[in-house]
Amino acid sequence: MEIKKVGILGCGLMGSGVAHVSAANGYETVVCEVSQELLDKGLGSIQKYLTKAIARKKATVFEKRMIADNLTGTTKLEDLKDCDIVIEAITEDIKIKNEVFGKLDKLCPKSTIFASNTSSLKISDMAKETKRPEKFVGLHFFNPVPMMKLVEVVKTATTSDETFDAAMQYVKTLDKVAVPCKDTTGFVVNRLLVPYLLDAIRALEADVASPKDIDNAMMLGCGYPMGPLTLLDFVGLDTTLSITGIMYDEFKQPQYAAPELLKKMVAEGKIGKKSGEGFYKY
Ligand code: CAA
Repeated sequence: MEIKKVGILGCGLMGSGVAHVSAANGYETVVCEVSQELLDKGLGSIQKYLTKAIARKKATVFEKRMIADNLTGTTKLEDLKDCDIVIEAITEDIKIKNEVFGKLDKLCPKSTIFASNTSSLKISDMAKETKRPEKFVGLHFFNPVPMMKLVEVVKTATTSDETFDAAMQYVKTLDKVAVPCKDTTGFVVNRLLVPYLLDAIRALEADVASPKDIDNAMMLGCGYPMGPLTLLDFVGLDTTLSITGIMYDEFKQPQYAAPELLKKMVAEGKIGKKSGEGFYKY
């Protein structure tokens, strides 16, 4: 099973990143958004990223040309119908995801692999709603996608070996490292990362130190590239609250319970970098 054409559902932070790395590595790539406005915004963010990255010698003009040659955008789901794999990177809402996969299931041939970039939902809860559970995998990329080496590749009880091998091979050709994971809420990274991020908010609530000092402590004391509160601002406090809700429902363990400060900040619209304010002002 060879992947040649890649479809991406959603051109937000994650979708645009996956579209970027697919096209840059020679895959014919089509990215689909619900409106022209969102599509233009997502494709624009790839261009902005490339301009900065080339200036800092973190990307090449060749990469930019590969993306220009291989990447197209669309607002029509039908344009994904002849893809060998479709990777979903839309909102973390199982109902919406299943609705779109249901439509794609009718449009795409039996051979098309379906993948979800979910960070907290179970892959099997999407796979079982389609007529191709053996063709369903999880492909969880990390932010910023062009820079982060890891992809968690999730095999469910129904994923065929052929599908899993094709997904692993695809990740390898993106020059990323695949970590095979069991289909369990949060996989490896979020299972460990989310309690840590929430503990940083709890430390702030307990007035242990200022946001800057909490971040500096973890960067300088533990060698993290970015402090937990800065990382929360990048991930988005709304996204974190939603992930936390899903993980708490699954595990019922206090380390996954949302701190009051997180709920309050989301209610006030202080959801991080994308809103101009989170734990810091942007
Ligand atoms: N999300 C979004 N953008 C990020 C980011 C993140 N987590 N981390 C860094 N960036 C952006 C920076 O803002 C910067 O953008 P601008 O050029 O527009 O300012 C750009 O990436 C480069 O960052 P740096 O200046 O830090 O460049 P660097 O080369 O020194 O380091 C890096 C790059 C290796 C990505 C480093 O910044 C890093 O390690 N960041 C933390 C990444 C991280 O922890 N990612 C995991 C996020 S959690 C997740 O994705 C899973 C989930 O489901 C919630």
